[in-house]
Amino acid sequence: MNNGQEGQCSNIDDNRRRMKAMAVLMVALMVARPSRVLAQETAAEALLKFKTGLVNADPALGSWNPSTPPCNWAGVDCYNGYVWGLQLDNMGLQGQIDVDALVGLQTLRTLSLKNNNFQGTMPDWRKLPALTSLHLSGNQFSGEIPDDAFTGMDSLKMVYLSSNKFTGPIPTSLASPTMLELGLDNNQFSGTIPPFPSGNLQIFNVSGNQLQGPIPPSLRNFDPSSFIGNSALCEGDSCEASHPSAKRKKKLSPAMIFIIILGTLLALFLLLLLLLLLCLWWSLEDDDYEDDVETPRTRLEMASPLQQSTKLSFVRDDRHKFDLQDLMRASAEVLGSGNFGGSYKAVLVDGEALVVKRFKQMTDATKDEFHEHMRVLGGLQHPHILPLVAYLYRKEEKLIVFDFVANASLGKHLHGDRRRTEGWPRPLNWLCRLKAIKGTVRGLAYLHKEFPGLEAPHGHLKSSNVLLDSNYNALLMDYTLGPVVNPAQISEALVAYKCPEYAMSGRTSRKSDVWCLGILILETLTGRDVGRYLGQGGLWYGAELAGWVKGIVEEANEKGAVGVFDKGMEISAEAEAEKLLQIGIWCCQEELDKRLDLVDALAKIEKLHD
Ligand SMILES: *[C@@H]1O[C@H](CO)[C@@H](O)[C@H](O)[C@H]1NC(C)=O
Repeated sequence: MNNGQEGQCSNIDDNRRRMKAMAVLMVALMVARPSRVLAQETAAEALLKFKTGLVNADPALGSWNPSTPPCNWAGVDCYNGYVWGLQLDNMGLQGQIDVDALVGLQTLRTLSLKNNNFQGTMPDWRKLPALTSLHLSGNQFSGEIPDDAFTGMDSLKMVYLSSNKFTGPIPTSLASPTMLELGLDNNQFSGTIPPFPSGNLQIFNVSGNQLQGPIPPSLRNFDPSSFIGNSALCEGDSCEASHPSAKRKKKLSPAMIFIIILGTLLALFLLLLLLLLLCLWWSLEDDDYEDDVETPRTRLEMASPLQQSTKLSFVRDDRHKFDLQDLMRASAEVLGSGNFGGSYKAVLVDGEALVVKRFKQMTDATKDEFHEHMRVLGGLQHPHILPLVAYLYRKEEKLIVFDFVANASLGKHLHGDRRRTEGWPRPLNWLCRLKAIKGTVRGLAYLHKEFPGLEAPHGHLKSSNVLLDSNYNALLMDYTLGPVVNPAQISEALVAYKCPEYAMSGRTSRKSDVWCLGILILETLTGRDVGRYLGQGGLWYGAELAGWVKGIVEEANEKGAVGVFDKGMEISAEAEAEKLLQIGIWCCQEELDKRLDLVDALAKIEKLHD
């Protein structure tokens, strides 16, 4: 994005310009309002049309009445006046599912028709390409599902078809890389399991079907109960034995045998040659080589390093100084890639470890403004704030250098490849999680105290930005960057701008950080990776987050708080954990006046004891 000029005009200190922007925004909102009313009218129409297809709709859907706004109707979930979900579970519904009517609900993202009496074949959901979750479990659907039934539904993340009577093969269009949860258990699916891409899937269940053949490698880490009740499924070596079809051997022709022998001989010869060369090389090797051979990791590469300033500016006096050359010479380990750019761990020659965050084109602040802001951040001092050490200002990119903390981020502890990596430590127990949350809220409260004039003093609170030291003390990072991020990019760049109030009014508030804190608490207690459930862009990012929260709240109501807690968390104080869950929910209220403010959240969390 190249808006250098525009950015120069948008001086962050220029209040008049801000006022002007506000005025434009307010006009935009006033213009926007009728469109929302319009959206509600079309939604009402679409829903009533959908209802006419249903049998047994009343009394459950008796509230679907044109005289009230659809957001007040039973089973209709709204976000800021837009219908984003339909939840018509356990209503004894039957009849026709009029997908064409639902096409009129442009903002519909989740549809749940669980535990009703719908029959017949799978409706064509591709007419609703923006759907993110589809729940049809516990109905009487039957027949084969076309292989391409979900093709093009790129946002689809959760599909539950459990306990129906579907037959035939599992459609390969369900094996998309974006899929997170898939429940196909208790149907009559047959054939083999299609090759699911590994990585994203969090929940997968095909138990109680008639599947056969090998379990794809990408799914082998799932609990065996995801596969039981399919007598002909097999895993790894057992497949060879149990599947005569896999064992069918082809007879090799003499020509084939000849080629194989020749190939083997050639390969052996090459290997010998290689060994010989290696020996020769080793014997010639001298010390100068070391440097080039030894670094297995990446190095920090700068865009056009020589043309511009290479001087790091230090924001603290108590630090031993190093320069950019030292950083570039240090071996760097990629820690992650964020919304602005990458972050790296760099270990200097003397062993000092640092985190280098690289920001590309996130700010058009002038050098003076940037310096002033960094100087302020460098002056912060709190046990739960990761110290900022130095920065580099260049036109096309900025580096911010933080101290390194050994014990990875909270996010990594919660979701790090726990399922796959054996070396990863055991999941955090309740006490560590409480400690991390306590540290987080204290650090957050400190920032709120230090920056009374900022709307979202932290602005970017999420589990990957909460680092834990060796004692599980939380240290916040990437804080207070709002003032140096371009307004045009801010809603993409900072998570506080995904809050409901920003989606609705284009403004954050002092409580936007509280919303992020609430999400962090729910994520920490449930172990569910909020990052993976998020779509991209705009209004629906907010709605999806709201849906994520709502899902947890509903599940907690259904199963009790303990039912939603991360199974890996050893809870030593159940009542306290339940209280924290409740605080998390209060922090995630969409309406600002229902949401806790930070001072109350802090007080309530401090009262929890280990
Ligand atoms: C899969 O579904 C079956 C039957 O619905 C259930 O018993 C089992 O616990 C489920 N497994 C997982 C891992 O969810």
